[in-house]
Amino acid sequence: MMTSLKLAALGVYLLVAPKAFAQDNNAQDTDPVETSVIYAGELVDVETGRVQTDRVIVVEGGIITAIGARAALADMDVPADATVMDLSDMTVLPGLSDSHVHLTSDASIHGYKRLQVSTSAAAITGVVNAEKTLMAGFTTVRNLGAPGFADIALMEAIDAGEIAGPNMISAGRSIGITGGHCDNNLLPYEYEAKAGGVADGPWAVRTKVRENNKYGAKVIKFCGTGGVLSKGTKIGAQQFSFEEMKAIVDEAHLLGLKVAVHAHGADGIETAIRAGVDSVEHASLISDEGLRMAKRKGTYLSMDIFVSDYILSEGAAAGILEESLAKERTVGKAQRERFQAATRAGVKLAFGSDAGVYPHGQNGRQFAYMVEWGLSPMKAIQAATIGNATLFDTAETHGSITVGKHADIIAVDTDPIADIRALEDVEFVMKDGVVYKND
Ligand code: ARG
Repeated sequence: MMTSLKLAALGVYLLVAPKAFAQDNNAQDTDPVETSVIYAGELVDVETGRVQTDRVIVVEGGIITAIGARAALADMDVPADATVMDLSDMTVLPGLSDSHVHLTSDASIHGYKRLQVSTSAAAITGVVNAEKTLMAGFTTVRNLGAPGFADIALMEAIDAGEIAGPNMISAGRSIGITGGHCDNNLLPYEYEAKAGGVADGPWAVRTKVRENNKYGAKVIKFCGTGGVLSKGTKIGAQQFSFEEMKAIVDEAHLLGLKVAVHAHGADGIETAIRAGVDSVEHASLISDEGLRMAKRKGTYLSMDIFVSDYILSEGAAAGILEESLAKERTVGKAQRERFQAATRAGVKLAFGSDAGVYPHGQNGRQFAYMVEWGLSPMKAIQAATIGNATLFDTAETHGSITVGKHADIIAVDTDPIADIRALEDVEFVMKDGVVYKND
């Protein structure tokens, strides 16, 4: 259990509703509703795609209860003891989200070095990375895969208020074929190493979906092609037949869970879209036909177009295998070009970074790449807020600064519409009405 002393040491400022983030899980229910008032010099409205000036946002008990012109504050029914946060020289935005992270992974440990990391050690790493991610302004993440359900434990600890972190939508074990990208292929035969999500055949994969659901998964992730960082897999090669993909998707949808597929190669991407996945992760070599299919079906592409720079510059030192570096050299630039094609085709784009492959807390660096490769700054911000929330099915409660939604609010000191890199340095972070950072 985190004490307030520890929180202070971590630079966490509990200005509002501190008890909502303390010892007792029921504190939120029993506490009096605390009110805060935020003055926003500029306010990014991701619903309309406009920036408003001189606004005021009222937050009560973690929920946004009013938004208006600052000049009209006197007419708004705000209690006299409300906490005022003056961000009148800043740009205020909804909390950011990342549709593809691995909080339990450490970017400095790859390849054979990862074999030394136990599930329990990874869970502790996740505690540290959850806080870093939140401090970077990311108030919601989808955690697309972790061994041993460490990401489910992390999600539950955050939800219970035991530790600081973003809202998590965790996948648990990634589902994959024997010997595929979601298996563990580093050790020879006699070790009998096999990742927990490995299954072959339609009924076996349905069982994996049911098990993940049983142990708390909020989204299903499977591997539909080879990958960069796995040993002995080909990026272009499809993994799972159509029948198996369809079984995963149908079972997940029956259980009310969305499905994210890891897929780089064109065939695997098209097959997964036909099977009905909700998002394609990476989508590096998506064909024009794949883009058309995604557009027709409303499938989101979650293209991690920043990570290549890290893999190619820091990857070898972190233990990434030479064969993986060779694969990355063929895929990194091509993926950016296909991202640009996707922006032109008008396909729905999520903001997904694969943080964990590169250091957590640097998620915001991907914005500049998305803008360089074809999105306007506003569209890039929309992808990371209301766009992701729509993909996650949480747009009723999250993803924009709207009356009735959770008060997940950040601020930066430079206008991100003029300079998108402002989002690499978030100065103010509020989640559910609680201030975690106020520089
Ligand atoms: N986890 C992914 C994989 O191993 C990372 C791919 C990174 N490269 C890229 N260009 N997006 O396949």
